[in-house]
Amino acid sequence: MADLSINFAGIKAPNPFWLASAPPTNSGYQIMKAFEAGWGGAVWKTLGIPVVNVSSRYGAINYRNTRMMGFNNIELITDRPLADNLREIEEVKKYFPNHAVIASIMVESKKEWHQMVKDVENAGADGIELNFGCPHGMCERGMGSAVGQEPEVLKTIVSWVKEVAKVPVITKLSPNISHITDPGLAAYQGGSDAISLINTIKSIVGIDLDSYAPYPIVDGKGTNGGYCGPAVKPIAMHMIKDLAQHPEISKIPISGIGGVETWRDVVEFILLGATSVQVCTAVMHYGFGIVREMEAGLRRFMNDKGYQTIYDFAGKALPNITEWKHLNLEHKVVAEINTDKCIGCDLCYIACDDGAHQAISLPTGVAKRIPTILEENCVGCNLCSLVCPVENCITMVKKDDGTQHITWEERTENDDVPTSFNDDRAGGKDHFVPKPTDALNTKG
Ligand SMILES: Cc1cc2nc3c(=O)[nH]c(=O)nc-3n(C[C@H](O)[C@H](O)[C@H](O)COP(=O)(O)O)c2cc1C
Ligand code: SF4
Ligand code: SF4
Repeated sequence: MADLSINFAGIKAPNPFWLASAPPTNSGYQIMKAFEAGWGGAVWKTLGIPVVNVSSRYGAINYRNTRMMGFNNIELITDRPLADNLREIEEVKKYFPNHAVIASIMVESKKEWHQMVKDVENAGADGIELNFGCPHGMCERGMGSAVGQEPEVLKTIVSWVKEVAKVPVITKLSPNISHITDPGLAAYQGGSDAISLINTIKSIVGIDLDSYAPYPIVDGKGTNGGYCGPAVKPIAMHMIKDLAQHPEISKIPISGIGGVETWRDVVEFILLGATSVQVCTAVMHYGFGIVREMEAGLRRFMNDKGYQTIYDFAGKALPNITEWKHLNLEHKVVAEINTDKCIGCDLCYIACDDGAHQAISLPTGVAKRIPTILEENCVGCNLCSLVCPVENCITMVKKDDGTQHITWEERTENDDVPTSFNDDRAGGKDHFVPKPTDALNTKG
């Protein structure tokens, strides 16, 4: 039976499913309800000098039938008095001593950071998360992503906190930066016990076509918000991987955040090296109950693969993520269509002819037009298999025999790469393309 419990930089929790610091962790009521539902930890809505929020606050990208594929907010940190939050932290810990309660904090001066650390520790917080991510409002006041974008300032504040903290300190990073390893390394060097990421991405999700104001609209005006939800998961995964592959930063654990919604997302984050995951948007969309699917799925995955704990597979994808120059240029795949499954929708033909390499032909004069792959033209780009609406109808089939292996780096070392504009060693040399004038005959 899989054991889901974790020890994250010294913070113990019955499972790796944590709520991210956000509206679902605004109160003791919500966190107790979440723990009852099965969440193993919660990062309290960021505490500081309480703010005044605006109304409205949220915007979203609805993509086709999917609502809130991307989510955006202009909310600030907690607007509740500190004393109320501290009292509720204490109460939650009384009822749930074995769950992880982490206090997210954001203040300005060294004195305030020290005071806040002591206050949340006295309330019984198991850990502290430093919010250096908020990309709106707080950054205008010199906090949030204003710190997350300045590694030296971030390092200084982490070290202030570490001067007094007795519980583990997690530094939450902003993704609004070119190289996530810069603030990641600063957090490590400042003495942070762990890192969490990502906070939200600076964004505008839409413009109202009557008032010309960006969403969410506050009395006819708007501002950039922080983007999150399923849309940001690929960015989060890339950043987690960058930190997990770094020789120094990887010595401290990573809590992965950004677009996590299902057990599969959780497994992918763990395979990239995260050893706890945090969730915000999916809970705001579907409620605390989603943790049941996450837990059941994670258990099934671990049982199927024979893993006892999440540490048995944490980071297992990392050796397979390399740089482009190390990929095998001799590996060849081509598309293959299962004609029994094909419904003759033409989508693959259109995609390949207009958007790829003209490697699919269609028969004419038949009722159901089953396409054919022209193997000699197919570069194995995957596009047709991605657009095909029928599962496993187009598969990519390996055509090389596996004996040849050469990378761009090796070819460069062997002086065997194109170096002039019309070099014969170009990859597309002699590859079939139709004559430009053939385009004039494609209508109808
Ligand atoms: C409405 C809203 C408020 C948030 N408030 C905070 C906050 O107070 N402190 C913080 O560290 N992150 C805050 N976040 C960011 C989330 O904790 C999380 O990093 C981000 O939403 C990405 O995760 P997700 O894709 O699961 O939503 C907030 C996010 C949202 C949507
Ligand atoms: S894999 Fe790419 S090139 Fe090959 S048939 Fe499909 S879309 Fe065309
Ligand atoms: S996209 Fe798929 S189902 Fe549609 S024609 Fe191509 S192979 Fe057939």
